[in-house]
Amino acid sequence: MLQGKLNIAFVALTVAIGGFLLGFDATVISGVVPFIKEYFSLSGASGDLKLGFAVSSLGWGAMAGNALAGPLSDRFGRRRVLLGTALLFVLSSLLAATATSFPSFVVARIVGGLAVGGAILIAPVYIAEIAPADKRGGLVSLNQLMIVIGISASFFSNYFLLDLGEHNWRYMLGVQMVPAVLYFTLLWFVPESPRWLLLKRRDEAALAVLRRVAGEQQAQENLQQIQRSLNTKAVSRGFRGLLDSRVRLIMIVALGLAFFQQITGINAIFYYLPTIFAEAGGGVNDAFRQAVLVGVVNVLMTFVAIWLIDKLGRKPLLLMGIAGMALSLFAISWAFGQESYNARLVLIAIIGFVASFAISLGPVMWVLLSEIFPNEQRAAAISVAGFWNALVSATVTMIFPWALSTLSSSLTFLAFALFATAALLFVVLLVPETKGRTLEQLESDLMTAKA
Ligand code: BGC
Repeated sequence: MLQGKLNIAFVALTVAIGGFLLGFDATVISGVVPFIKEYFSLSGASGDLKLGFAVSSLGWGAMAGNALAGPLSDRFGRRRVLLGTALLFVLSSLLAATATSFPSFVVARIVGGLAVGGAILIAPVYIAEIAPADKRGGLVSLNQLMIVIGISASFFSNYFLLDLGEHNWRYMLGVQMVPAVLYFTLLWFVPESPRWLLLKRRDEAALAVLRRVAGEQQAQENLQQIQRSLNTKAVSRGFRGLLDSRVRLIMIVALGLAFFQQITGINAIFYYLPTIFAEAGGGVNDAFRQAVLVGVVNVLMTFVAIWLIDKLGRKPLLLMGIAGMALSLFAISWAFGQESYNARLVLIAIIGFVASFAISLGPVMWVLLSEIFPNEQRAAAISVAGFWNALVSATVTMIFPWALSTLSSSLTFLAFALFATAALLFVVLLVPETKGRTLEQLESDLMTAKA
């Protein structure tokens, strides 16, 4: 490990490669589906079921990864868990690209899911625990930026590898080994989280990291602040501590944000974009163009969020963005309610929705989850909230096609719009501002709040 002054942007970017990998891994399957269908002879009703299982296996693995990541990172350290996810990413890519039987393909995807579930939670936790308070929001949001870049990259990569013949799907899945090996290599240059080291009473090692982040004087101050916060409370560690009444209100905020991030439909819209556009009719059914457009807007607006999050704060971004999400969803619902659909309006409103999500619930939820909990409970809490987030996402994406055909598109989007309105109220009433304060200052503010 290097011993000089630490470049915190390098550290955060390195850790956020995990975000790239998980975004890539989650969406790469969309290009692979037609080819594995043929290769594994997945036809008829049982073939459909098997295909659904192959596609969703990453999600199931991710939920297990969510549940395990918190406790494992408390026990073995954030860095070791991240290194573990890097290895799992390499392994899953290798196994999926070389799979010759359906079960081995599913196993490969579940292994990838474990990595996804771990990386999505522990990357933000790690970055929040090492970042200086005044840059924390932007640095944690880098992970979300890398997620959305990973999503778009997999799309491009699939497109370019399409013509490589019958093994094209193996290349699509295999290219991921390159960033995964890079991730594994670069992580060795990243130190352990100073706050985790202090939780383990490894004060000297923690001080050494703090020195490299902030210089001698600031390091001593930070060390004392963290030590004081660890000494003054008697909240139990891990999952048990989450039942403490002082943590209850923070838990409600976390679970609420995790719920609203998914119940407002982001992944339903992402996964079924071509279906939605086909429903709207009109000439806008060029799937490639639409996906590129939506992806670019998502990436650009995440840059805007990174730029604003430590200046304006978390709450103004949430309020503006969720208001934009609600308006866009009402517009989509209205458009679908008309006699003849206005495809252009649907496209504009979907872009408005994705843009609004990308400056608000997309990055800000992960930032808040990584900062509102006390040091002792952060990892366990994010495991619970992350698992819940994944469960709501899976449920919404499962019900969505049924809702479109049974309730109608208009009513389905009206439901999303009403949930977005409720989210707005939730943020106004319950979500605290965390900008610029150290994790320990936040802890003492938020823990005194009565549930
Ligand atoms: C969400 C994911 C979503 C992604 C899209 C993330 O913050 O947790 O469910 O797919 O943003 O940009």
